[in-house]
Amino acid sequence: MNILQIHSSARADGSHSSRLAHSIVERLKVSLPEDDTARVTLRDLGRTPHPELNEAALQALFTPPAQRTPDQAARVALDDALIAELQAADVVVLGVPMYNFGVPAPLKNWIDAISRAKVTFQYTANGPEGLLKGKKVYIALTRGGLYRNTPADTQVPYLKAVLSFLGMSDIQFVYAEGLAMGPEAEQQAIASAQSQIDELAFGAELVAA
Ligand SMILES: Cc1cc2nc3c(=O)[nH]c(=O)nc-3n(C[C@H](O)[C@H](O)[C@H](O)COP(=O)(O)O)c2cc1C
Repeated sequence: MNILQIHSSARADGSHSSRLAHSIVERLKVSLPEDDTARVTLRDLGRTPHPELNEAALQALFTPPAQRTPDQAARVALDDALIAELQAADVVVLGVPMYNFGVPAPLKNWIDAISRAKVTFQYTANGPEGLLKGKKVYIALTRGGLYRNTPADTQVPYLKAVLSFLGMSDIQFVYAEGLAMGPEAEQQAIASAQSQIDELAFGAELVAA
């Protein structure tokens, strides 16, 4: 089984979302059937940020491959690498902090890189079709405050919408909330997230994958 583990916290040390993503991967590994092995690819977007989708990147993407300058080809190759990594994954595990009510900018850049017409999605006579099918996605969300199931939580609807658009609609969320509400609340949030991880339904999809 290929597991793609993605961190998006700006913090190298002490990141709750990265730790929880790691914990999900560890749980996945021990839940694997005996005859399967986990191959984990870790992409830390905080340590290795992906470039933003600016005008030069757009021009590179919309230039036919044979006509690209070396710089344009190199820019497209960066996106190609992220797409290939994702295509190869059976399971995707994301660690996602809330920053100013949204997802961290490096994660948005990753989403911009992997969303490519005719490669990861296409439009048909019946509407859009996601081309990244058959993957299971786990997302560890960390927040200083409490936003689960409130209109201020823009992360969950956004991540559901864009990942489903790309074909990845089988998503399970783990929440660690109230992390900035004092040491006791922080401890409780992590304990709660850990028990959500312990309760994740791994079995059936692992056999299917
Ligand atoms: C720049 C910044 C913006 C933040 N914005 C929010 C926010 O809008 N809502 C919230 O609940 N917490 C917010 N937080 C708190 C983080 O979500 C929280 O500290 C979380 O644990 C960060 O994830 P990490 O531990 O993986 O780094 C923010 C933190 C930072 C550093």
